[in-house]
Amino acid sequence: MSVRSKIIGTGSYLPPRVVLNKDLEEVLNTTDEWIQQRTGITKRHWASKDETTSDLALKACEKALESASLKKGEVDLLLLATVTPDHEFPGTACFLQAKMGIPGVPAIDVRQQCGGFIFALSIADQYIRTGTYKNILIVCSELHSRCLDLTPKGRNLSVIFGDGAGAVVLKATEVTDPENQPHIISTKIHSDGSQAKELWCPGPGLALFGKERMTSEMIDDGLQYPQMNGRAIFSQAVRTMSESLTESLTSNGKALKDLELAFFHQANRRISEAIGKNLELDDSLIHSTVEIYGNTTSATIPIGLDDAVRKGKLKKGMLISNVAFGSGFTWGHSLIRY
Ligand code: COA
Repeated sequence: MSVRSKIIGTGSYLPPRVVLNKDLEEVLNTTDEWIQQRTGITKRHWASKDETTSDLALKACEKALESASLKKGEVDLLLLATVTPDHEFPGTACFLQAKMGIPGVPAIDVRQQCGGFIFALSIADQYIRTGTYKNILIVCSELHSRCLDLTPKGRNLSVIFGDGAGAVVLKATEVTDPENQPHIISTKIHSDGSQAKELWCPGPGLALFGKERMTSEMIDDGLQYPQMNGRAIFSQAVRTMSESLTESLTSNGKALKDLELAFFHQANRRISEAIGKNLELDDSLIHSTVEIYGNTTSATIPIGLDDAVRKGKLKKGMLISNVAFGSGFTWGHSLIRY
């Protein structure tokens, strides 16, 4: 008998404002046709001017706790992944914790970009396996719309991102029948910092010119906006996520035929299609939300999990694999008996 983590609740929040591709055509000098053809994205959600990353996170957490039938006072650890923090410091998890009204509970930020959910899940799983914590709330929250270069110069990146938050509640559970009982079977995380600048946001940053973290010249140069070598990232995303999905199964004595649903980090539908083709995965095994939510970075997988639960597609007992790749580079998997 071993103590393992079990997902007992999911929740998500997408701000109500929907931005269609055609709403971006004039400002970004793009077209609905280009965006759909190159990415599969048709629309995304954008937060209102008075919402912050911790506000979106709060709403997703409330829904996840409700679905888990867990009171906020029962949470032992709060993990928040984001690439768009409320402030430089302290971490957004602290602002969220204050909004939740659970002082004293450790609140940790995870800054692993699109890999954020897998990294947070892996950290949480270790704490549960060692018996340190029993109930862990993980939330991934992103507010990209106010961080993007919304001019034609930024169009390659600005068309793919959307705002949103997804949360899961993990509970310690005694597993006596690992083949059938819901639990996280394994997680594996990887990083390669040698390619950090293929997808990064330079400013604010002390390593820029050895001056202050942010100067008006840096703003004039647009260093506060993310920069991406789209083609290089695309091929790395396909390779690493294909390998991670295979690794999640083979390292646990499973084969592709055992897989019942897969959740990929989704920046572009063509990436998921290429992984599916590489591994000869049936389309029905890939749960996709990029078409309607865009790339919500760390939040993509937990939003997808919640979407699949609420649509009745993800059911208890199913074997699922989550794989992500993102800036850093960071990537990895989790294999779960849901
Ligand atoms: N609308 C119209 N044209 C655009 C455009 C847009 N939104 N964005 C780029 N273009 C143009 C470029 O100007 C370029 O034109 P040129 O050939 O005349 O110079 C052409 O399209 C190709 O640009 P490129 O940046 O090479 O586009 P791409 O085909 O690589 O597609 C992405 C861009 C972002 C959709 C694609 O690279 C991608 O999805 N990359 C992976 C993203 C990812 O996985 N991120 C990881 C985690 S966030």
